[in-house]
This record gives sequence, structure tokens and C-alpha cells, in this order.
Amino acid sequence: MKIFVTRPIPQAGLDLLRNAYPEFKMNPEDRVLERHELLAAVKGLDGLLALLTDLIDGELLDAAGPQLKIVANHAVGFDNVDLKAATARGVLITNTPGVLTDATADHAWALLFAVARRIPESEQFLRAGKFQGWGPLMFLGGDVTGRTLGVVGAGRIGHHMALRSRGFNMRVLYADELVNAVLEKEIGARKVSFDELLRESDFVSLHVPLLPSTRHLINAASLRQMKPSAYLINTSRGPVVDEAALAEALRERVIAGAALDVFENEPAVHPGLLDLQNLVLTPHTASATIATRSNMATMAAKNLLAGLRGKRPQNLVNEEVWGKQRR
Ligand code: DGY
Repeated sequence: MKIFVTRPIPQAGLDLLRNAYPEFKMNPEDRVLERHELLAAVKGLDGLLALLTDLIDGELLDAAGPQLKIVANHAVGFDNVDLKAATARGVLITNTPGVLTDATADHAWALLFAVARRIPESEQFLRAGKFQGWGPLMFLGGDVTGRTLGVVGAGRIGHHMALRSRGFNMRVLYADELVNAVLEKEIGARKVSFDELLRESDFVSLHVPLLPSTRHLINAASLRQMKPSAYLINTSRGPVVDEAALAEALRERVIAGAALDVFENEPAVHPGLLDLQNLVLTPHTASATIATRSNMATMAAKNLLAGLRGKRPQNLVNEEVWGKQRR
């Protein structure tokens, strides 16, 4: 079996692959492969372990060849994969759901507090030697306890983000196509329209997948619906937020602040965002804990091995490929 891993991943995943297929290949450098390098590397593969930074489209699948059985994505999100192209070619696509839910929900809270309580800004101030003693007007921020949390997308991660509000006695609103009965029962969360959520929330936290319908869900108009004292948190996918509109809204104080872990054109960040003090930024690290990344690597490797062995991978995304006669 010819297997390729596009970038070093945690050891646990590599060990699984090595035990099964000692001759598997990996890009040894800790960087995203250039497109031409990736196209060359996939030629003749049976299985590919890819990252969210690798574009898996028809061109790549054709470059791999008709023997390609599976692409195991090392991420829960799979908007880097052209699912239609993969399904049309009978290629199994898998993701890594569940194992990063807690880490991502935790990070959303870390961002929420960081922006509301102005942690990075005040830390920079202190490190710069500007702290002259306690001041009654120094670094005043927003309250969290007792405020309203609006969760956009009450799936796995949104659900767990919302549950964590219990400790802060918050009112929770959520916007989703589906009713989340557990959130309603356990924390009295209320399902509302997206517009009502924007109008009512002190914190709007995004947990939707990137789809045509969610691209620029947060734009100039939706930002204007939010309270001037409200904060936006994004740990989902960058293009859900129109960064140019956000930069302007933060500069004009249309909202109080924002915290972003994901960006519209990663790794680029809209230049208008970089010098704003009412914005906290992290480099797409919401799932970056040692245990979580190790679990993601293990899950991706297990999915890959299952697909190569003709078994149904546990986290199959394009179910319709399974059981169909392959070419
Ligand atoms: C994912 O898995 O989709 C996250 O964005 C990275 O962990």
C-alpha cells in the first residue's frame, strides 16, 4: 500500500501507520506543502492522510490516480475537501469528530475571557513597564457572569461551549436549524432566530461549519445588529466572518471587541485587524492541546487503516461511497 502523510503529526498516529505499513511516506518538514509538491507526492497513492491546509479537489484526486481509496482528514472540519469530487471518484473521506470538542470549547472560553477582560492588552502594558500601580479606570472590561451568551450552531462544539456557561450563571440563546433538547433541559437555553441572538447577546460565539450558507454570516449588517457592548468569538472557520467588515466595526466601536482563532484567508490576516486593541487573535490553535492533537492523529490514522483494509472507517463523511462498487 502506498501511503502519504502531508506533514508530521503526533507520534501516536505515526506509530499506528508504521506498525501496519512500515514503508509509508511523510513530508518530513513541518510546513504546508506547495501545491505542485502535493500533486507530485500523491501520485499512485492508496491512502492519503491530509490536513485542513491541504486542498483535496478533483485535480488532486486525479493526480493520485484511480487506485486511491481514502483521504483521512486530520480535522473535524472538511471544507478543504471537494466532497462531490471525492464521492464521484469513489474515494472515502473521513474526519476527526468528538476528540477535539472539549479543547475547542475550552479555547472559545479562553478567548471570551481574554477579550472581555482585556488580558493580552493589559499584559503587554505591564511587560512594557507601564504599570505604575492600581488605577480605578485601568483596563475596564466587560462582565461575563450573569450576561447573555449567544451560541450560533449548537452542534457538538457549540453544545459544549454553552454547557460551560453554567459556572457563570448566564442566560443562553442558541441559533440552529435543529432543536437542542439537552441544552434546553440542562441549562434552560432558548432557541431563537439568528437576528434575535445578535440583538440580545453579550457574547456571540460561532460554531458552524463553513458552507455556502454560512460564508460571511457575520458581515457589516449582522455586526450592526449586535449591541455596542457585545463581543464576537470565532473558533469555527474564518470565512464565516467578513474580516474587512469586522475590522471596520471594531475600529468604529460598533461592537466592543472580538476574538478570532480562525481567519478568512489563512495564514493571512486582514491587515486592518492587526493593530486593533479590542481584538484577541490566536493562530488556529483551538484544538492545540497535547492530548487532543494526539487523539486526532490516532483517529485519522485508524480511519486511514480501516479504509485501506476494506473496512468501513468509523468517521466516514461521504457515506454514499461505502458499499458502492469501486472502479
Ligand atoms: C478542525 O479540526 O477542523 C480544527 O479547525 C482544527 O483542529
